[in-house]
Amino acid sequence: MYQSRIPANTAIDYLISAQPDQPVLFFNPSMLGQSYKRFAKGFPGLVTYAVKANDSVEVIENLVVAGMTAFDVASPAEMKRVRQISPSAILHYNNPIRSRGEIREGVAHGVVSWSVDCLSELNKLIEGGATGEVAVRLRLPVAGAVYDFGEKFGADPLMAIELLRAVSQAGFSPAMTFHPGTQCNSPQAWARYIEECANIAVQAGVELKRLNVGGGYAAHRTGNAPVIESIFDAIDRTVCRVFGSKRPDLICEPGRAMVAESYQLAVRVKAIKNDTLLYLNDGIYGGMAEWRDLGEMDRHMVFADDGQQKHGAPKNFTLYGPTCDSLDRIPGEICLPSDIDEEDYVLLAGMGAYSTATATAFNGYGDLLRVTLG
Ligand SMILES: Cc1ncc(COP(=O)(O)O)c(C=O)c1O
Repeated sequence: MYQSRIPANTAIDYLISAQPDQPVLFFNPSMLGQSYKRFAKGFPGLVTYAVKANDSVEVIENLVVAGMTAFDVASPAEMKRVRQISPSAILHYNNPIRSRGEIREGVAHGVVSWSVDCLSELNKLIEGGATGEVAVRLRLPVAGAVYDFGEKFGADPLMAIELLRAVSQAGFSPAMTFHPGTQCNSPQAWARYIEECANIAVQAGVELKRLNVGGGYAAHRTGNAPVIESIFDAIDRTVCRVFGSKRPDLICEPGRAMVAESYQLAVRVKAIKNDTLLYLNDGIYGGMAEWRDLGEMDRHMVFADDGQQKHGAPKNFTLYGPTCDSLDRIPGEICLPSDIDEEDYVLLAGMGAYSTATATAFNGYGDLLRVTLG
């Protein structure tokens, strides 16, 4: 999906001069740099990046330049992508289910940290010759995220105790990890997980060398921007309280919150029917997949093709994507200026996470034009 970068000063400049009919993703490298600095300054440990959120070359390149040394990769393709850009990058392979072939590729790529949530997968790692750190992935019924990450992955506390012992006995560097669920804005979710990790380590009789407190940090979708520093504080305070002198080194692996703000997506109105049905050139099969699963983002502005912003009274519209599929619709109704017109652009902020990464080519759409600002 990665295409050569077209430079532009601002998104509006580009839209006025190019009049693109294709959806456009605008990348702002300095926003990505700021996001990295925010994590690096506030998080009390090693900051890595979950490549799955946006595996664009420009994202990985800019994070490496900003100082990032380690990446969470979920597949051999992500390992190759990172290594092509940064041959010395440290790779953490935290997808807890892997085929034996994928384990071989991880070993060949020099993965230094793995996660597991069941004994059979740990045995596969041992048989496959994995070395280094193995983190036991815990799951708890904790609220705060937009959807539950414990359904597919994670060991319950009793299984986690058994697994942690087995990890240590097998000679791996013992660690634990969890993911509180994506778009999580609750410091208590992290605190609860960290408390339980400390309990599990005591009950297993194993001292944790590292604790990976996951991704999950919320990006700015609606209302006020989340204050991720309050989560960093809760992490630090809880780790001090429950581990005391046995404090493990910490790692985080944000995807969404690292990359979301560094992209805007411009979509164009192809047609309006019956005054309230808007047909866009992008939708849930393209860069807006998350609007179906996470709900609407209200951070949008509408511009005419000459760059004038539309300020009509707010009105509810039904938004359809460009494919022939009737499911290609943004759920619910979206409030936009009533004077929105055919060929106008809707500029959406905070669109860097799980947009280009999940866009499909269904019906021949989904090819997002890439423009770099600055
Ligand atoms: C193991 C792991 N780490 C990190 C992430 C990134 O999560 P987020 O984008 O919510 O920060 C994910 C997302 O699926 C994940 O599975």
